Amino acid sequence: MPLFSDPVITCIEDLKRLHKRRVPKMFWDYCESGSYTEQTFRDNVSDFSRLRFRQKVAVDMTNRTIASTMAGEKVAMPVALAPVGLTGMQSADGEIKAARAAQAFGVPYTLSTMSVCSIEDVAAATGKPFWFQLYVMKDWDFVAATLERAKKAGVSALVLTLDLQLLGQRHKDLKNGLSTPPKPTLRNILDIGLRWHWALGMAGTRRHSFGNIVGHAKGVSNLSSLSSWTAEQFDPQLDWGKIARIRDMWGGKLILKGILDEDDARRAADFGCEAIVVSNHGGRQLDGALSSIRRLPGIARAVGDKVEVWMDSGIRSGQDVLRARGMGAHGVMIGRAYIHGLGAMGERGVTKALEVISREIDTTMALCGERDIAQFGAHNLMIPADFEGDWKA
Ligand SMILES: Cc1cc2nc3c(=O)[nH]c(=O)nc-3n(C[C@H](O)[C@H](O)[C@H](O)COP(=O)(O)O)c2cc1C
Repeated sequence: MPLFSDPVITCIEDLKRLHKRRVPKMFWDYCESGSYTEQTFRDNVSDFSRLRFRQKVAVDMTNRTIASTMAGEKVAMPVALAPVGLTGMQSADGEIKAARAAQAFGVPYTLSTMSVCSIEDVAAATGKPFWFQLYVMKDWDFVAATLERAKKAGVSALVLTLDLQLLGQRHKDLKNGLSTPPKPTLRNILDIGLRWHWALGMAGTRRHSFGNIVGHAKGVSNLSSLSSWTAEQFDPQLDWGKIARIRDMWGGKLILKGILDEDDARRAADFGCEAIVVSNHGGRQLDGALSSIRRLPGIARAVGDKVEVWMDSGIRSGQDVLRARGMGAHGVMIGRAYIHGLGAMGERGVTKALEVISREIDTTMALCGERDIAQFGAHNLMIPADFEGDWKA
């Protein structure tokens, strides 16, 4: 019998509490914050809870399935792991751990440009293809070389993020002096000293910086500050012309992430991509924007079935996945929900997060009288009349 058994994890909130305890404050804050007043960050979560389920009884609930497809790939449930920068600072080699957990579970993993483990690290450590998320830099040689690296690594879809050409200000990151690796200040040393498990893990890996950038981008040998590098290097001129250039350079499956407007969605659908992700970047960019779940139905109506519509921002449970489905999303991406698992318990924690979410989907779907997630729709929800709002354009 092991001396210490795993704590009982019943929901994502359990993982969140452990994450907060086990990871240095700087990286916890980096995850659990939104830009400026954090209004959009909060609304993303609270707006989900306004949607209720329609209970159905006396329905045969045997032989249920929550399996689906996303961008033509078979998935155990329509939930992909979103790209999250600095995942490798939540737990040593965090990107590899998250990718392995996702692959074992049968859902897609998306590696961020701003990851700690590089494209090659993740490819070497995992057996199956993964997705790669690109931020567009001013340096097109770097963009072209990164796309080549992704192709060589067998990346099966490119996720192009459109809502971060400049960085939304998150106050806590500035106050904490967010950097990777953390600077050896007295405050950081004391904080890290309290998280010995995290520190031991970090001592056991050489991956402490931005693995896709350092040694790959011209003149970058040391890059600790995310905000200053973003300000200097991200291309603020990214427009549809440049997006088309990237689509042509890539030549494979393309997913456009960060759409929050019907006109942009129509444009993206006509443009030729596999899926669009209705997203406000988890409330980390335009503070004051409406939550993704409120914007989703209008956007889904605007594009019809021209393109797969996915959403992210605010999903903390399987119930939320179904709410998104009912409001018009074919699939979803999760960010913090799996990062909480990673920070709490490493790879096992990501698996726990996925298990929690899939069980919640399965049970909730059954109690709504559905046996196949493909059949779950608006008819299974109770939607307040004013949910989308009456906004003057
Ligand atoms: C800590 C953190 C870092 C993120 N880094 C990236 C990134 O590098 N690239 C990207 O496209 N999105 C990034 N995102 C946004 C996520 O991909 C996703 O849109 C968001 O987390 C969804 O909201 P949720 O966390 O409420 O699920 C990040 C989100 C968080 C929380």
